[in-house]
Amino acid sequence: MKSLISILDLSVEEIEQLIATADDIIDNPDKYCEKCKRKKLATLFFEPSTRTRLSFEAAMLELGGSVIGFSEANASSAAKGESVADTAKTVSCYADIIAMRHPKEGAPLVASINACVPVINAGDGGHNHPTQTLADLLTIHREKGGLSGLTIGVCGDLKFGRTVHSLIQAMSRYSGNSFVLISPEELKLPSYVKKEVLRKNGIPYTQTTDLEQVMPKLDILYMTRVQRERFFNEEDYLRLKDSYILTPSKLKNAKESLSIMHPLPRVNEISVLIDDDPRACYFKQVLNGKYMRMALILKLLEESEG
Ligand code: CP
Repeated sequence: MKSLISILDLSVEEIEQLIATADDIIDNPDKYCEKCKRKKLATLFFEPSTRTRLSFEAAMLELGGSVIGFSEANASSAAKGESVADTAKTVSCYADIIAMRHPKEGAPLVASINACVPVINAGDGGHNHPTQTLADLLTIHREKGGLSGLTIGVCGDLKFGRTVHSLIQAMSRYSGNSFVLISPEELKLPSYVKKEVLRKNGIPYTQTTDLEQVMPKLDILYMTRVQRERFFNEEDYLRLKDSYILTPSKLKNAKESLSIMHPLPRVNEISVLIDDDPRACYFKQVLNGKYMRMALILKLLEESEG
């Protein structure tokens, strides 16, 4: 039974196929509107979400299927102490596929081991967020015409930012990419990502605290929110939360072809004055997330039936 827990569960070829399917869904939505008739998606969200949960639900509805689930742990028997394993076994009796978000790293993996239907990791703690990465990859592919030969700046909370960890894993598999890691000292990319992903694959990277200095060389600027919910103390969060605020003046030396990305939600990291800049791609990512989740649901259901 195939589940999606890490972006590395998908080969480069499978990602190419998902992008091709998503492009086809965008061009021919009617072709897909009954593909999941009589199928049910369960969205098990133990942590808040707007985009991921609603885009999964919209994706299944647009494929002709139905959705069940809950949007907070307190609305489920987890509040009475039920384990993730038992929850997964139970929901497998009602749904054909599960999307799970959980604050504990590894919870969707535990669910996938215990469920008898495919499980999709919709974000686990500060660890991974593979379907956000699928949205990011479709966006980069459509904006840049491919996924290779790019200088990618990732900026903000690189320590807890699970979207960044998954994006670096994904983009490290394409030739000619390099990374500029921009963060405060306290929020640097975890050593395991640098060692296991960047150094292991010989991917060039530099680290800096100065966004404006590196701006001219970037093809992609991936901004992230400082993750308040992962901090142990409020004082540290307040000190670091506004480390980087992208304003129009900070883009004066940026490339005309720069793509500005953000997984959202944003707090202060990108001024709303940038929203009308043609380089702003973050609301395109939101929409692309729905198409890639449609493509993923189709793929995993086909595999579980085949
Ligand atoms: N990008 C993202 O995961 O957004 P939500 O937390 O709103 O799902």
